[in-house]
Amino acid sequence: MDKANKNNLTWFDGYITRKDREKLHGHKGAVIWFTGLSASGKSTIAHLVEKELHLRGCSTYVLDGDNVRHGLCSDLAFSPEDRTENIRRIGEMVKLFVDAGIIVLAAFISPYRRDRQKVRSLLSKNQFLEIYVECPLEVCASRDKKGLYEKAKQGTIKEFTGISAPYEPPENPDLVIQSGKEDALNAAKRVIELIEKRELIRQKI
Ligand code: ADX
Repeated sequence: MDKANKNNLTWFDGYITRKDREKLHGHKGAVIWFTGLSASGKSTIAHLVEKELHLRGCSTYVLDGDNVRHGLCSDLAFSPEDRTENIRRIGEMVKLFVDAGIIVLAAFISPYRRDRQKVRSLLSKNQFLEIYVECPLEVCASRDKKGLYEKAKQGTIKEFTGISAPYEPPENPDLVIQSGKEDALNAAKRVIELIEKRELIRQKI
């Protein structure tokens, strides 16, 4: 028996469906999930994509690691278990956003394949696009304004992704961005093209 049943909870569907909300927004609800090392450029690209979608009249929201960890996940640190719980909560939150008909730009290291797969499984096929922001560790470290890589190398920060904690790259991402070579504006443009191709938004005429 799952927790909801044990607690005598019943899901109430409401009168307005996701499809109704999508019709109102003029586009589909979906999550564009950016995964990659810290300082690989996930948030920068996500915000540029949001800017363009907003200009086109879409309802959007950016969720990123540093922000979510200030509130909803402020009780979590960076052990494998805490990262899994972080992504689980975000997955459930994202599912609600998608049901609200919003395009979510999610930028989380999300280092474990299994955790990302779980989020994907909460949604239907075209509601989850995985973007791998691939960037060599040295480039991430050289761009890191927060100085975290330096601290991780010195051992002041433990379990740091890429230094003392693992990162599992996606095996079958919807798009790969090599952010060490490609500039963020161009990367954002390619993400928008993918969103158009998957018919989440209308093509610009
Ligand atoms: S995740 O691994 O659980 O997906 P998340 O994306 O929420 O991570 O948070 C990553 C951000 O937390 C990094 O960009 C960095 O600013 C900060 N951070 C602090 N400690 C660590 C750590 N040990 N490993 C990775 N990122 C860390």
